[in-house]
Amino acid sequence: MARLIRTDATGPIRIDPQDKPVFVCACGLTSNPPLCDGSHKACKNEEDGTLYRYDPATKEVVKTESDA
Ligand code: FES
Repeated sequence: MARLIRTDATGPIRIDPQDKPVFVCACGLTSNPPLCDGSHKACKNEEDGTLYRYDPATKEVVKTESDA
């Protein structure tokens, strides 16, 4: 079974449950869910109006298409 998840987030959500902050992945690219592992850096050059598909292993864009 596979699942395609769409998100517009390009960075983590910070939560402060105790003394130290925790960063939860909101971009969907992390290899360590639910925590951010820095993979969101792959999203930094995304442009509005484009839908990006990433290789989950390499975090590289494998396909783009119009998001109109
Ligand atoms: S927000 Fe997803 S890896 Fe950082």
